[in-house]
Amino acid sequence: MSKVKIKVVPFSVPICIAGSIINGKINYATYGCFGLLSPRPTTYVYIGSVEPHYTNTGIKENGYFSINIPSVGQMQETDYVGLVSGRDTDKSTVFKSFFGSVDKAPLIEECPINMLCKLTKTVDLPGRDIFISEVLETYVNEECLTDGELDFMKINPLLFTSANGSYWELGKIVGSAYKEGKTMIKR
Ligand SMILES: Cc1cc2nc3c(=O)[nH]c(=O)nc-3n(C[C@H](O)[C@H](O)[C@H](O)COP(=O)(O)O)c2cc1C
Repeated sequence: MSKVKIKVVPFSVPICIAGSIINGKINYATYGCFGLLSPRPTTYVYIGSVEPHYTNTGIKENGYFSINIPSVGQMQETDYVGLVSGRDTDKSTVFKSFFGSVDKAPLIEECPINMLCKLTKTVDLPGRDIFISEVLETYVNEECLTDGELDFMKINPLLFTSANGSYWELGKIVGSAYKEGKTMIKR
């Protein structure tokens, strides 16, 4: 097999929208640098946010923010809140907001999945803050459940590839995690 070295960042991830409050005003911004650090017993997630972003000011100010997973239907709005800064553009009405048990982080009504996050630790990378946070509450649109389970075909999350900056949607299920490899375990 021949390999070539590449310079692009080869990640494809669901995109998210972070919600925060700065000077009493709701703000939303888009993040491809986001992910799960630990699922349980406590769920920890992170977003990596470039320092001049207005969102950073809000997260540092309040210690809370939200992570919202948009579906393909929210592509245009998702891209928009990633193109303009709340520093000079009011993004508070791009989405309908609601609140969980803490009024310091707005959640997005239109996004099928919403997580209320409490800042645990900020890692200071060059030019970028990594906000490590505990997920306090998770909400899902009722119509995105099948028999009480999350149904990702209904959620239809908007995916993002950083290498060429394109948006994608999910394909089909090809296997079951923690099962497919079992046939290779020697008894
Ligand atoms: C698809 C997409 C992905 C993005 N991912 C990130 C990211 O991971 N980290 C980041 O700091 N900015 C990212 N941005 C840029 C911010 O969303 C953008 O600069 C936004 O205007 C910041 O808003 P704010 O100043 O109101 O916080 C992304 C933008 C888009 C469109």
